[in-house]
Amino acid sequence: MLGDSAPRTIYNPSFMDLGLRNRVALVAASSQGIGRATAEAFAAEGCRVAMCARNEPALHEAAEKIRKKHNAEVFARALDVTDAGAVSRFVAEVVGAFGGVDICVTNAGGPPAKGFLASSLEDWQRALELNFLSTVYFAREVIPYMQRKRWGRIITLTSITTKQPVADLVLSNAVRAAVVGLVKSLANEFGKDGILVNNVGPGFTATDRLKELAKAGSSASGKKEQEIFEGWAADAPLKRLGEPREVAETIVWLASERASYITGQTVLVDGGMYKGL
Ligand SMILES: NC(=O)c1ccc[n+]([C@@H]2O[C@H](COP(=O)([O-])OP(=O)(O)OC[C@H]3O[C@@H](n4cnc5c(N)ncnc54)[C@H](OP(=O)(O)O)[C@@H]3O)[C@@H](O)[C@H]2O)c1
Repeated sequence: MLGDSAPRTIYNPSFMDLGLRNRVALVAASSQGIGRATAEAFAAEGCRVAMCARNEPALHEAAEKIRKKHNAEVFARALDVTDAGAVSRFVAEVVGAFGGVDICVTNAGGPPAKGFLASSLEDWQRALELNFLSTVYFAREVIPYMQRKRWGRIITLTSITTKQPVADLVLSNAVRAAVVGLVKSLANEFGKDGILVNNVGPGFTATDRLKELAKAGSSASGKKEQEIFEGWAADAPLKRLGEPREVAETIVWLASERASYITGQTVLVDGGMYKGL
Protein backbone atom coordinates (compact mmCIF):
# COMPACT_ATOMS: atom_id res chain seq x y z
CA MET A 1 0.00 0.00 0.00
CA LEU A 2 1.24 3.49 -0.78
CA GLY A 3 1.36 5.83 2.20
CA ASP A 4 -0.28 9.22 1.86
CA SER A 5 3.12 10.83 1.48
CA ALA A 6 4.20 8.55 -1.43
CA PRO A 7 4.51 10.29 -4.82
CA ARG A 8 1.67 9.51 -7.18
CA THR A 9 1.64 9.59 -10.95
CA ILE A 10 -1.52 11.26 -12.11
CA TYR A 11 -2.29 10.42 -15.74
CA ASN A 12 -4.24 12.99 -17.63
CA PRO A 13 -4.45 12.30 -21.37
CA SER A 14 -4.96 15.98 -22.16
CA PHE A 15 -1.35 16.55 -20.99
CA MET A 16 0.08 14.19 -23.62
CA ASP A 17 1.50 16.50 -26.24
CA LEU A 18 1.90 14.48 -29.42
CA GLY A 19 4.37 17.02 -30.81
CA LEU A 20 2.77 16.99 -34.26
CA ARG A 21 1.83 20.66 -34.68
CA ASN A 22 2.81 21.94 -38.17
CA ARG A 23 4.06 18.55 -39.32
CA VAL A 24 3.10 17.71 -42.90
CA ALA A 25 1.02 14.53 -42.97
CA LEU A 26 0.20 12.89 -46.30
CA VAL A 27 -2.60 10.34 -46.09
CA ALA A 28 -3.25 8.30 -49.23
CA ALA A 29 -6.70 7.06 -50.24
CA SER A 30 -8.41 9.36 -47.78
CA SER A 31 -11.79 10.58 -49.06
CA GLN A 32 -13.67 8.15 -46.79
CA GLY A 33 -13.30 5.38 -44.25
CA ILE A 34 -10.10 4.89 -42.27
CA GLY A 35 -8.01 7.12 -44.55
CA ARG A 36 -10.36 10.02 -44.10
CA ALA A 37 -10.55 9.54 -40.33
CA THR A 38 -6.73 9.53 -40.29
CA ALA A 39 -6.47 12.75 -42.32
CA GLU A 40 -8.93 14.34 -39.91
CA ALA A 41 -7.08 13.08 -36.83
CA PHE A 42 -3.83 14.64 -38.10
CA ALA A 43 -5.64 17.91 -38.83
CA ALA A 44 -7.00 17.87 -35.27
CA GLU A 45 -3.39 17.67 -34.03
CA GLY A 46 -2.45 20.81 -35.97
CA CYS A 47 -0.77 19.09 -38.93
CA ARG A 48 -0.88 20.35 -42.48
CA VAL A 49 -2.59 17.54 -44.37
CA ALA A 50 -2.39 16.18 -47.92
CA MET A 51 -5.16 13.89 -49.14
CA CYS A 52 -5.89 11.91 -52.32
CA ALA A 53 -8.45 9.51 -53.79
CA ARG A 54 -9.80 8.83 -57.29
CA ASN A 55 -13.26 10.39 -57.04
CA GLU A 56 -12.59 14.12 -57.22
CA PRO A 57 -15.89 15.58 -55.89
CA ALA A 58 -15.94 13.18 -52.92
CA LEU A 59 -12.29 13.99 -52.15
CA HIS A 60 -12.80 17.75 -52.29
CA GLU A 61 -15.92 17.51 -50.14
CA ALA A 62 -13.99 15.55 -47.48
CA ALA A 63 -11.04 17.97 -47.66
CA GLU A 64 -13.31 21.00 -47.28
CA LYS A 65 -15.05 19.53 -44.23
CA ILE A 66 -11.71 18.85 -42.53
CA ARG A 67 -10.42 22.34 -43.46
CA LYS A 68 -13.48 24.01 -41.92
CA LYS A 69 -13.79 21.83 -38.83
CA HIS A 70 -10.13 22.07 -37.78
CA ASN A 71 -9.11 25.33 -39.42
CA ALA A 72 -6.45 23.21 -41.11
CA GLU A 73 -4.35 23.62 -44.25
CA VAL A 74 -5.42 20.77 -46.52
CA PHE A 75 -4.05 19.97 -49.96
CA ALA A 76 -6.15 17.52 -52.02
CA ARG A 77 -5.45 15.95 -55.40
CA ALA A 78 -7.52 13.32 -57.26
CA LEU A 79 -5.35 10.41 -58.36
CA ASP A 80 -5.06 6.65 -58.51
CA VAL A 81 -2.38 5.31 -56.14
CA THR A 82 -1.54 2.55 -58.64
CA ASP A 83 -0.20 5.21 -61.03
CA ALA A 84 3.47 5.71 -60.08
CA GLY A 85 3.75 8.91 -62.13
CA ALA A 86 0.68 10.42 -60.46
CA VAL A 87 2.05 9.55 -57.00
CA SER A 88 5.37 11.19 -57.89
CA ARG A 89 3.66 14.37 -59.11
CA PHE A 90 1.43 14.44 -56.03
CA VAL A 91 4.36 14.22 -53.61
CA ALA A 92 6.17 16.96 -55.56
CA GLU A 93 3.06 19.17 -55.33
CA VAL A 94 2.73 18.55 -51.60
CA VAL A 95 6.38 19.48 -51.12
CA GLY A 96 5.79 22.60 -53.24
CA ALA A 97 2.81 23.58 -51.09
CA PHE A 98 4.09 22.61 -47.63
CA GLY A 99 7.90 22.40 -47.97
CA GLY A 100 8.24 18.65 -47.34
CA VAL A 101 6.50 15.48 -46.21
CA ASP A 102 7.09 14.46 -42.59
CA ILE A 103 4.52 11.69 -42.28
CA CYS A 104 3.26 9.40 -45.02
CA VAL A 105 0.38 7.01 -44.46
CA THR A 106 0.03 4.60 -47.36
CA ASN A 107 -3.43 3.29 -48.07
CA ALA A 108 -5.67 2.08 -50.91
CA GLY A 109 -8.94 0.25 -51.36
CA GLY A 110 -9.00 -3.44 -50.47
CA PRO A 111 -8.79 -6.28 -53.01
CA PRO A 112 -11.94 -8.27 -53.84
CA ALA A 113 -13.05 -11.03 -51.46
CA LYS A 114 -12.31 -14.31 -53.24
CA GLY A 115 -10.95 -17.79 -52.69
CA PHE A 116 -7.81 -18.95 -54.50
CA LEU A 117 -9.36 -20.68 -57.53
CA ALA A 118 -11.82 -17.85 -58.07
CA SER A 119 -9.00 -15.31 -58.24
CA SER A 120 -7.81 -14.61 -61.77
CA LEU A 121 -4.27 -13.63 -62.72
CA GLU A 122 -5.65 -10.14 -63.35
CA ASP A 123 -6.93 -10.10 -59.75
CA TRP A 124 -3.43 -10.96 -58.52
CA GLN A 125 -1.82 -8.33 -60.72
CA ARG A 126 -4.32 -5.71 -59.56
CA ALA A 127 -3.94 -6.61 -55.88
CA LEU A 128 -0.15 -6.33 -56.18
CA GLU A 129 -0.46 -2.90 -57.76
CA LEU A 130 -3.12 -1.67 -55.34
CA ASN A 131 -1.90 -3.05 -52.05
CA PHE A 132 1.83 -3.51 -52.51
CA LEU A 133 3.31 -1.43 -55.33
CA SER A 134 1.37 1.69 -54.32
CA THR A 135 3.25 1.50 -51.00
CA VAL A 136 6.55 1.25 -52.87
CA TYR A 137 5.62 4.28 -55.02
CA PHE A 138 4.94 6.48 -51.98
CA ALA A 139 7.98 5.28 -50.03
CA ARG A 140 10.33 5.96 -52.96
CA GLU A 141 9.04 9.52 -53.27
CA VAL A 142 8.91 10.58 -49.62
CA ILE A 143 12.07 8.99 -48.17
CA PRO A 144 14.55 11.45 -49.76
CA TYR A 145 12.65 14.41 -48.21
CA MET A 146 12.57 12.69 -44.82
CA GLN A 147 16.30 11.93 -45.05
CA ARG A 148 17.02 15.61 -45.64
CA LYS A 149 15.17 16.52 -42.42
CA ARG A 150 16.50 13.49 -40.56
CA TRP A 151 12.93 12.91 -39.36
CA GLY A 152 10.14 10.91 -40.90
CA ARG A 153 7.32 8.48 -40.32
CA ILE A 154 5.94 6.00 -42.83
CA ILE A 155 2.90 4.06 -41.69
CA THR A 156 1.37 1.45 -43.94
CA LEU A 157 -2.33 0.82 -43.47
CA THR A 158 -2.95 -2.86 -44.19
CA SER A 159 -5.09 -5.40 -42.35
CA ILE A 160 -5.31 -8.02 -39.63
CA THR A 161 -4.53 -10.40 -42.53
CA THR A 162 -0.84 -9.52 -42.04
CA LYS A 163 -0.98 -11.63 -38.86
CA GLN A 164 -3.91 -13.95 -39.37
CA PRO A 165 -5.34 -14.95 -42.76
CA VAL A 166 -9.06 -14.31 -43.23
CA ALA A 167 -11.22 -16.82 -45.17
CA ASP A 168 -11.93 -15.83 -48.78
CA LEU A 169 -9.48 -12.93 -48.67
CA VAL A 170 -6.58 -14.79 -50.26
CA LEU A 171 -5.47 -11.71 -52.22
CA SER A 172 -5.19 -9.65 -49.03
CA ASN A 173 -3.69 -12.54 -47.02
CA ALA A 174 -0.87 -13.01 -49.53
CA VAL A 175 -0.14 -9.56 -50.91
CA ARG A 176 -0.18 -7.67 -47.61
CA ALA A 177 2.53 -9.97 -46.24
CA ALA A 178 4.84 -8.35 -48.80
CA VAL A 179 4.06 -4.95 -47.29
CA VAL A 180 5.24 -6.21 -43.90
CA GLY A 181 8.50 -7.40 -45.49
CA LEU A 182 8.90 -3.96 -47.01
CA VAL A 183 8.12 -2.21 -43.71
CA LYS A 184 10.73 -4.20 -41.82
CA SER A 185 13.32 -3.63 -44.58
CA LEU A 186 12.69 0.12 -44.71
CA ALA A 187 12.79 0.33 -40.92
CA ASN A 188 16.19 -1.41 -40.94
CA GLU A 189 17.62 0.67 -43.78
CA PHE A 190 16.41 4.14 -42.80
CA GLY A 191 16.39 4.06 -39.00
CA LYS A 192 19.82 5.73 -39.14
CA ASP A 193 18.13 8.69 -40.88
CA GLY A 194 15.52 9.16 -38.16
CA ILE A 195 12.79 7.55 -40.28
CA LEU A 196 10.44 5.20 -38.43
CA VAL A 197 8.41 2.74 -40.47
CA ASN A 198 5.48 0.80 -39.03
CA ASN A 199 2.42 -1.08 -40.17
CA VAL A 200 -1.12 -0.76 -38.79
CA GLY A 201 -3.54 -3.62 -39.32
CA PRO A 202 -7.23 -2.92 -38.72
CA GLY A 203 -9.59 -5.69 -37.78
CA PHE A 204 -13.23 -5.42 -38.85
CA THR A 205 -13.94 -1.70 -38.92
CA ALA A 206 -17.26 -0.02 -39.74
CA THR A 207 -16.66 1.49 -43.21
CA ASP A 208 -18.00 1.05 -46.75
CA ARG A 209 -15.29 -1.57 -47.36
CA LEU A 210 -16.83 -3.71 -44.63
CA LYS A 211 -20.28 -3.38 -46.23
CA GLU A 212 -18.70 -4.61 -49.48
CA LEU A 213 -17.19 -7.62 -47.65
CA ALA A 214 -20.53 -8.37 -45.93
CA LYS A 215 -22.27 -8.31 -49.30
CA ALA A 216 -19.71 -10.71 -50.81
CA GLY A 217 -19.99 -12.95 -47.72
CA SER A 218 -23.77 -12.92 -47.94
CA SER A 219 -23.89 -13.99 -51.59
CA ALA A 220 -21.30 -16.72 -50.97
CA SER A 221 -22.95 -18.16 -47.84
CA GLY A 222 -26.64 -17.24 -48.13
CA LYS A 223 -26.44 -15.61 -44.67
CA LYS A 224 -28.00 -12.18 -44.11
CA GLU A 225 -25.52 -9.29 -44.11
CA GLN A 226 -26.61 -8.41 -40.56
CA GLU A 227 -25.68 -11.93 -39.40
CA ILE A 228 -22.26 -11.55 -40.97
CA PHE A 229 -21.65 -8.23 -39.18
CA GLU A 230 -22.75 -9.82 -35.90
CA GLY A 231 -20.40 -12.77 -36.47
CA TRP A 232 -17.43 -10.44 -36.97
CA ALA A 233 -18.29 -8.49 -33.84
CA ALA A 234 -18.70 -11.71 -31.80
CA ASP A 235 -15.25 -12.91 -32.93
CA ALA A 236 -13.51 -9.97 -31.23
CA PRO A 237 -13.09 -10.07 -27.43
CA LEU A 238 -14.45 -6.50 -27.36
CA LYS A 239 -17.66 -7.84 -29.02
CA ARG A 240 -18.07 -5.00 -31.48
CA LEU A 241 -16.69 -3.68 -34.76
CA GLY A 242 -13.99 -1.03 -34.73
CA GLU A 243 -14.57 2.61 -35.58
CA PRO A 244 -12.38 4.31 -38.22
CA ARG A 245 -11.41 6.87 -35.55
CA GLU A 246 -9.86 4.12 -33.42
CA VAL A 247 -7.53 3.07 -36.23
CA ALA A 248 -6.79 6.73 -37.07
CA GLU A 249 -5.81 7.60 -33.50
CA THR A 250 -3.39 4.67 -33.35
CA ILE A 251 -1.77 5.86 -36.58
CA VAL A 252 -1.45 9.41 -35.21
CA TRP A 253 0.13 8.12 -32.00
CA LEU A 254 2.63 6.02 -33.99
CA ALA A 255 3.54 9.12 -36.01
CA SER A 256 3.98 11.21 -32.89
CA GLU A 257 6.96 12.03 -30.70
CA ARG A 258 5.41 9.75 -28.09
CA ALA A 259 6.26 6.67 -30.20
CA SER A 260 9.85 7.66 -30.97
CA TYR A 261 11.45 4.25 -30.27
CA ILE A 262 9.03 2.07 -32.23
CA THR A 263 9.93 0.97 -35.74
CA GLY A 264 9.49 -2.10 -37.94
CA GLN A 265 6.36 -3.18 -36.06
CA THR A 266 2.84 -4.22 -36.93
CA VAL A 267 0.19 -2.84 -34.58
CA LEU A 268 -3.23 -4.46 -34.86
CA VAL A 269 -6.32 -2.39 -34.06
CA ASP A 270 -8.70 -5.31 -33.98
CA GLY A 271 -10.52 -5.40 -30.62
CA GLY A 272 -8.36 -8.41 -29.76
CA MET A 273 -9.55 -10.54 -32.70
CA TYR A 274 -6.07 -11.89 -33.54
CA LYS A 275 -5.91 -15.28 -31.88
CA GLY A 276 -2.14 -15.67 -31.53
CA LEU A 277 0.20 -14.60 -28.75
N1 LIG B 1 -12.79 -1.63 -43.00
C1 LIG B 1 -12.25 -2.75 -42.56
O1 LIG B 1 -12.84 -3.54 -41.81
C2 LIG B 1 -10.83 -3.11 -42.96
C3 LIG B 1 -10.22 -4.20 -42.31
C4 LIG B 1 -8.94 -4.54 -42.65
C5 LIG B 1 -8.28 -3.85 -43.65
N2 LIG B 1 -8.91 -2.81 -44.27
C6 LIG B 1 -8.19 -2.15 -45.35
O2 LIG B 1 -7.93 -0.81 -44.99
C7 LIG B 1 -7.94 -0.01 -46.19
C8 LIG B 1 -8.95 1.14 -46.02
O3 LIG B 1 -10.19 0.54 -45.77
P1 LIG B 1 -11.55 1.36 -45.60
O4 LIG B 1 -12.45 0.44 -44.89
O5 LIG B 1 -11.29 2.71 -45.08
O6 LIG B 1 -12.00 1.46 -47.14
P2 LIG B 1 -13.11 2.39 -47.84
O7 LIG B 1 -14.10 2.92 -46.88
O8 LIG B 1 -13.57 1.58 -49.00
O9 LIG B 1 -12.24 3.64 -48.38
C9 LIG B 1 -11.25 3.45 -49.35
C10 LIG B 1 -10.65 4.81 -49.71
O10 LIG B 1 -9.58 4.57 -50.61
C11 LIG B 1 -9.78 5.32 -51.80
N3 LIG B 1 -9.19 4.51 -52.88
C12 LIG B 1 -9.54 3.25 -53.23
N4 LIG B 1 -8.79 2.84 -54.26
C13 LIG B 1 -7.96 3.87 -54.58
C14 LIG B 1 -6.98 4.06 -55.58
N5 LIG B 1 -6.69 3.11 -56.47
N6 LIG B 1 -6.32 5.25 -55.64
C15 LIG B 1 -6.61 6.23 -54.74
N7 LIG B 1 -7.53 6.10 -53.77
C16 LIG B 1 -8.21 4.94 -53.70
C17 LIG B 1 -11.28 5.50 -51.89
O11 LIG B 1 -11.66 6.62 -52.70
P3 LIG B 1 -11.91 6.46 -54.30
O12 LIG B 1 -12.75 5.24 -54.48
O13 LIG B 1 -12.55 7.73 -54.70
O14 LIG B 1 -10.54 6.29 -54.92
C18 LIG B 1 -11.60 5.75 -50.42
O15 LIG B 1 -11.31 7.07 -50.07
C19 LIG B 1 -8.28 -0.97 -47.34
O16 LIG B 1 -7.10 -1.43 -47.94
C20 LIG B 1 -8.99 -2.09 -46.63
O17 LIG B 1 -8.92 -3.31 -47.35
C21 LIG B 1 -10.16 -2.43 -43.96
